[in-house]
Amino acid sequence: MLMDDVVSIGLLGAGTVGSGVIKLLQENAPQITQRLGKKVVIKKVLERHPEKPCLLGISPDMVTDRFEDILDDPDIQLVVEVLGGIEPTRQYLLEALRRGKHVVTANKDVVAAYGKELFEAAEAGKAEFYFEASVGGGIPVIRILKESLAANKIQEVIGIVNGTTNYILTRMSEEGADFATVLRAAQSAGYAEADPTSDIEGLDAARKISILASIAFNTRVTPDNVFIEGISRITPEDINYAREFGYVVKLLAIARDLNDEIEVRVHPAFLPHSHPLASVRGVFNAIYIKGNAVGETMFYGQGAGQMPTASAVVGDVMEVIRNMKSDSARRFACTCFLDKKIRPKGEIRTKYYVRLIVKDKPGVMASIAGVFGNHQVSLASVIQKRTLEIDGQMMMAEIVVITHEVKEQDIQDALAVIRGLSIVHSVENIIRVEGGGKG
Ligand SMILES: NC(=O)c1ccc[n+]([C@@H]2O[C@H](COP(=O)([O-])OP(=O)(O)OC[C@H]3O[C@@H](n4cnc5c(N)ncnc54)[C@H](OP(=O)(O)O)[C@@H]3O)[C@@H](O)[C@H]2O)c1
Repeated sequence: MLMDDVVSIGLLGAGTVGSGVIKLLQENAPQITQRLGKKVVIKKVLERHPEKPCLLGISPDMVTDRFEDILDDPDIQLVVEVLGGIEPTRQYLLEALRRGKHVVTANKDVVAAYGKELFEAAEAGKAEFYFEASVGGGIPVIRILKESLAANKIQEVIGIVNGTTNYILTRMSEEGADFATVLRAAQSAGYAEADPTSDIEGLDAARKISILASIAFNTRVTPDNVFIEGISRITPEDINYAREFGYVVKLLAIARDLNDEIEVRVHPAFLPHSHPLASVRGVFNAIYIKGNAVGETMFYGQGAGQMPTASAVVGDVMEVIRNMKSDSARRFACTCFLDKKIRPKGEIRTKYYVRLIVKDKPGVMASIAGVFGNHQVSLASVIQKRTLEIDGQMMMAEIVVITHEVKEQDIQDALAVIRGLSIVHSVENIIRVEGGGKG
């Protein structure tokens, strides 16, 4: 093969995804070469554990622990980053792009927080910057938003974009188990990290929806702009009531275009069984997108894992090479040409489920309904579910309230008053209700 028929890659990281990239490029080499008319060759690997790439047939002299060995190699035209973390990765990507090396990354942390800077570096170096694997693992949602749905005004993107939390909520729903038990099981099964904070507190999903919202609405959204609430307060009681009212509980990443502003949030939500996302079980991911021309669409698949993620990474590598071949680099530069306002958390409007424990005596329901009414929170239903003994003596009543669509600030103000009432033992949970349905 002539030198011109080879594209040399520098691979940063040979952990889970990096090993998948090596395997995929080996296993599907004949087909990839034929589709591209070029052979893709990994020339150097940056990895602090040389045994990882070497186990897959990479020669030890190709493995380095110095990024400069890749940056300064004139044969390497494309850098694939699957190291993870923010620093020094961000610095490596900026340097590669400024030097004119194309970059493919799976790193949602860097893309979500530093997308603007990275696109500027790509512009300066006239290089390509692709990051399909940063959201939805193997689901090609970024390409869909940038290319296939480019003619649409995107109205709404709702994702189940974190497999760990969807696995936990699915098992809680199907087995009636509590959060802590299922989290431990998820950790043993390898579906949750030893430190699961980023997943269960919604941070991972917030990074992903920041990336999707930026592309969908052509305006820069970073994780700091996202209202985030995790799933650790969800109990089997909440899940049972959800079922009773015709809903499932899901951790949703929601981005909506409200014309003059957008809203972006991540939180658990009651979702009607009839919603397409309601049937997404276990570690699977799905992204529901509504456009003004296409209407409702949904994309489903494995949101993580070695080979699904490698599929997205290598797909990007092939796209970059096609662009290089046709001399059409920079087809997809930064698309954030608008500067839309983010709706403040307190202004968000949705329906709510509220579960309260109150003293079991006459007039309590009316008092609580009165406080909600004084704060413009109109109620679709107030139901006394059961009586229970608290601390072995006092009889209490559990009340479940579903509101109509109300402003977040109004319901929070109402709950602040309700928490202070002597007849109220506790506000056990408040969960937003999404996607139409009852109430
Ligand atoms: N795993 C998935 O399913 C998945 C899915 C979608 C996206 N991603 C993204 O893909 C990226 C990689 O994830 P992964 O699961 O493959 O991670 P991983 O298994 O931890 O692999 C990263 C490898 O790079 C090494 N490394 C990190 N920093 C380095 C440095 N500065 N110099 C040399 N070696 C370094 C790590 O060594 P140490 O272990 O010693 O740090 C590790 O061997 C992350 O951005 C992640 O968010 C992963």
